[in-house]
Amino acid sequence: MRESLIATDLIDGDGGTIARDIFVDEEIYKREIKQVFGRAWLLVGHESQIPKPYDYFTSRMGEESVIMTRDKTGKIHVFLNTCPHRGMKVCRYDQGNARVFTCPYHAWSFSVDGNLTTAPGGLVGVPHYKKAYRGGLDKSQWGLVPVAQLVNYKGSIWANWDKDAVDFETYLGDMKFYLDSVLDQRDGSPGGSEVIGGIQKWKVPSNWKFGAENFIGDIYHITSHRSVDMVSIGPSGAGRRDVLKGDKAAKIVIPPPAFGSIGFPNHGHGCIGALPHYEEPDYAPSFTLTPIVEEYYKEVYHRRVENLGKRARGLAPVGTIFPNCSFHGMQPRALFTWHPNGPQEMEMWKWYLVDADAPDEVKNVLRQYYLRYAGPAGLTEQDDMENWNYATAASSGARAGLYPYNYQMGQGFESDARDLENAIFTSAVTEQNQRLFYNRWAEFMDADSWDALHPKNSANHADILARCQQ
Ligand code: FES
Ligand SMILES: [Fe+2]
Repeated sequence: MRESLIATDLIDGDGGTIARDIFVDEEIYKREIKQVFGRAWLLVGHESQIPKPYDYFTSRMGEESVIMTRDKTGKIHVFLNTCPHRGMKVCRYDQGNARVFTCPYHAWSFSVDGNLTTAPGGLVGVPHYKKAYRGGLDKSQWGLVPVAQLVNYKGSIWANWDKDAVDFETYLGDMKFYLDSVLDQRDGSPGGSEVIGGIQKWKVPSNWKFGAENFIGDIYHITSHRSVDMVSIGPSGAGRRDVLKGDKAAKIVIPPPAFGSIGFPNHGHGCIGALPHYEEPDYAPSFTLTPIVEEYYKEVYHRRVENLGKRARGLAPVGTIFPNCSFHGMQPRALFTWHPNGPQEMEMWKWYLVDADAPDEVKNVLRQYYLRYAGPAGLTEQDDMENWNYATAASSGARAGLYPYNYQMGQGFESDARDLENAIFTSAVTEQNQRLFYNRWAEFMDADSWDALHPKNSANHADILARCQQ
């Protein structure tokens, strides 16, 4: 593959077109695994999944399995789930509790804590060690491979394979206010979310980027959800979410100048959301079918206004953190990952979140609502998957491959996103965020190192705005 092929030939940001190859081609996919998933910050899990020492949860980074676990001091580690001896997966369960992982093949064993001579994840047991190796095997060199960087951000666990990558908060930029809208308690206090139940995992015959680009700002695919809107699965018994009609709706709508697509070109993230310091609307009833939950949300709303005032920041119904983590910031509140399984298949994972201190009855009602809305059996998500399946299949033919996708909507109407650093904004329907996502993707595909990728080394904000408005 020519070094410059991706950025210059496949993504035409100025023309607003993208070649279909990036959704179906094997060679591009292989490069993507290395260049994007090998260097970007990836969501691994949530601390509430492993509350006690030695609890573990097996997750993924790109195509590969990793083990997220806690040591005896409570510190979280993430290791590559492969034995350094001959590659066997050392942990074949989804989750559990283990102080030591013993490889099923030849029984090398690895301690979560390590020991006096080995680091956490270190090799502590080797059959026939003395007789066979005669002191020639240095156990300190053959432990499980740890990730290069790891961070616990308000309970969500993120990792990176590249030691040179910028720290997580720099990577997020001001997109962090919108990630906060998922992770913070509904009353505005920082953090305090927990994963409800287990997580959902399912395979979809589609490229992973279809999910990421849908959640970064596809505000106008409501045609797809027409049938679910008609059957009224929302908690208020109308629509699919807490969307009210008439006068009540007027109260919850944030005026258009403050609500729209917010994108971060230097970072590749984006969301549909409200600009900071919008006027928090009056309380509008939502869970009207379940009075206890309704009462809870009303109380939380008042606590939120007390904590933050009415000029809040960070409301975002949906968004994507580059490359493959998306979220629902309101209902059904969740974090997702779009794991790559080859160019034409992804594995979707979904973590549903609630306030850890919410009453059990509230958690239970939310769980039921989340399940009927989202996930493989949820009425709404099925619509999206169907689109992505068919689009992938219909894009892989030789003839279809000659014709690029169109991303020209709203091009040239971007403005500065006030009060946010390095961000652009469009209040109308637009594909602004998809364009900046793929431009950032192309930078990752082409750049040799994080030196060339550092957000501060990307084109500066004024240049980007000028380019968008050409
Ligand atoms: S492959 Fe794990 S001990 Fe041999
Ligand atoms: Fe959708």
